[in-house]
Amino acid sequence: MDRIAVIFALLGLTFTLGCNTTTSTTPPMSATIHPRYTEPHRPQFHFSPDSMWMNDPNGMVYYDGVYHLFYQFYPDSTVWGPMHWGHATSKDLVHWEHLPIALYPDSLGLIFSGSAVVDWKNTAGFKSGEKDPLVAMYTYHLMEGEKAGRTDFQYQGIAYSTDGGISWDKYEGNPVIPNSGVKDFRDPKMFWHEASNQWVMILAAKDRVQLFNSPDLKNWTLASEFGANEGSHSGVWECPDLFELPVIGGTGTKWMMIVSLGDGGPNGGSCTQYFIGDFDGKTFVNDHSPETILWLDDGRDNYAGVTWSDVPESDSRKIFLGWMSNWKYAQVVPTETWRSAMTVPRKLELVETRQGVRLKTLPVRELEQLRKEALVIEQPGAEDQQVVIPLTEGLGELKLDLRTEASFTIQLKNSKGESVQFLYDASLNQYAIDRANAGKVDFESSFPDTQVIPRKGKWASHSFHVFVDHSSMEVFAEGGLTVATSLFFPTENFHELVIGTEGEVAFEKVECYPLRSIWSK
Ligand code: FRU
Repeated sequence: MDRIAVIFALLGLTFTLGCNTTTSTTPPMSATIHPRYTEPHRPQFHFSPDSMWMNDPNGMVYYDGVYHLFYQFYPDSTVWGPMHWGHATSKDLVHWEHLPIALYPDSLGLIFSGSAVVDWKNTAGFKSGEKDPLVAMYTYHLMEGEKAGRTDFQYQGIAYSTDGGISWDKYEGNPVIPNSGVKDFRDPKMFWHEASNQWVMILAAKDRVQLFNSPDLKNWTLASEFGANEGSHSGVWECPDLFELPVIGGTGTKWMMIVSLGDGGPNGGSCTQYFIGDFDGKTFVNDHSPETILWLDDGRDNYAGVTWSDVPESDSRKIFLGWMSNWKYAQVVPTETWRSAMTVPRKLELVETRQGVRLKTLPVRELEQLRKEALVIEQPGAEDQQVVIPLTEGLGELKLDLRTEASFTIQLKNSKGESVQFLYDASLNQYAIDRANAGKVDFESSFPDTQVIPRKGKWASHSFHVFVDHSSMEVFAEGGLTVATSLFFPTENFHELVIGTEGEVAFEKVECYPLRSIWSK
């Protein structure tokens, strides 16, 4: 029998609002989860590799009811090494099945990041059966070339699958795009551009992106470049993406470009920026001044994220997934048999705001299937409140709306006195994440640094949608205009979430869900 309780410490008095539920039959986690997924810090509803090292998501493509996720994978160690494409599939973006490695290094090099598309019109001519061919493009990285001090050791190759994405063959004509002397020349993301009836590919070329066109995924022509003097250049440009979205509350559509940056993020280390503009099949024109910098996530742990290709038009979502880590410390985080996880899949939308068109990011609705019995409190409304919410098995989802002019904190706590604090500082009108007291933090000197998260508006109302897993917190604030993803490594899972305020506050919604592990049988 599960007991879900909420305790209000109200004006010094403690009230317990509890509901005893008789419906839950969920046995203790350790009894039902594959042993691999009971390890300390192992995410319970985020994708992580079965074992060993993972970084960027790659080749994300949907075909025939299946979301394919490939990823940068080194199967021989828990630190970065010769890259392969690991592979997993999901029918619902939440539960994942691990599949054999899809792409191995070969004589042309290691297999760095890239993308995949469904070639519906068989433009490349790879079709050999009933199924539509899937085509992946990735960067070859030739170690020998790098070691020899050359600048042309990265170039693009393609591979294809005729069985719906399960097995892959490399194209014998590789590389399809040779390197003309740009040292960082990688991470191709392809899409079909309907208006100009051709394939478009965007890749990172050191301090800018390059856009290519192709009729057949094999022959590519450089169409334009963007970004040499735009946005942030605090690190090498990596992992771009480009797509069109309707503007909610505005007119028509806009093109959004994502560019990850190897260093110099708003809170240090690797990070991701975005641009809004127009695209005609060849050239991207930025709506903003070159100095404008728009961050996709203000937390430190969302990198190299891109979107799924070929999500059906009837669905029409742009679904994003990021690597939930930071190159500053990714290789030294205190996990033993594996390293890194992905963020939860997120829906990207564009909205018209007073400042112009901005990105709005929300967790995908498929995550709702993980919810256990809800605890919903409608308008508890009182002064000087503290709300304590139990985090069953260290997992939870919180939807919180409150109105206050005062500062407040949302804290994760465990019985060891460790905590992660999400704070609102009313005098600065900004949020912050403090993980300095969150257990294991000294594996890298900047890991405990406070992360500052500016608000996009100065409203008295705050809305949060928060996901807590064993080693991460993702906060979607201000209706998705502000997002912060942060890792932590407590010595014991957090078992309670405490909302504390210094002043008058009106809670408009406190909705909390214990969550199921995706690895439970
Ligand atoms: C981004 C990145 C990519 C590269 C890959 C190598 O994290 O550096 O630019 O393709 O990782 O693993």
